[in-house]
Amino acid sequence: MVNKEETLKKLAEEIKNCKKCELYKTRTNPVPGEGNPNTSILLIGEAPGYWEDIRGKPFVGAAGKFLNELLAISGLEREDVYICNVLKCRPTFEGKNRPPKPEEIKACTPYLDKQIKIIGPEIICTLGNFATSYILQKFGFKPESVGEVHGKVFEVNSLMGKMKIIPLYHPAAGLHKPPMKEIIRKDWERVREEIETGKN
Ligand code: URA
Ligand code: SF4
Repeated sequence: MVNKEETLKKLAEEIKNCKKCELYKTRTNPVPGEGNPNTSILLIGEAPGYWEDIRGKPFVGAAGKFLNELLAISGLEREDVYICNVLKCRPTFEGKNRPPKPEEIKACTPYLDKQIKIIGPEIICTLGNFATSYILQKFGFKPESVGEVHGKVFEVNSLMGKMKIIPLYHPAAGLHKPPMKEIIRKDWERVREEIETGKN
């Protein structure tokens, strides 16, 4: 049997040496992703921010703190899931975070595709618009905005088996607009229900 941990480590090495888009020039550290290689739940964010770039780990800043609270709503801890991003290096403009560019997404998503294949999750939670539209499109759905589809469950029957895609708001959305927090928490209750259904 292939060892998922080893395979993910090798991929992370590849990402460390990657120069496929301009972002390698400005990164401090690439952020391949981390978590439980044998999980059935994969979380996909947008891209590393300031703290992620410094530490080489996903969701370690303010959004990560809120994410931990949201995971708890679903009965999960960080060690239960695998977390990665659409982009593995931080996109910046004048020292600040900026959204990913289409050419960066094109260059980087083969790594995400490999991670999905290695982990073979039963549930993919996409966090925010970039992960949501990429993943919906990849599995044959219309690439809708997260505002339209958050908390819905998309069922996939692929060669990899049965899988559910659950689009969710990016945790940072709750930090920028505090009234959003309740909506986001509700969606994570839905995630909990889906996990429980999967156990039966
Ligand atoms: N936002 C993301 O999308 N990913 C991270 O890893 C951190 C913040
Ligand atoms: Fe390579 Fe992705 Fe980093 Fe660009 S963002 S350099 S494609 S790992």
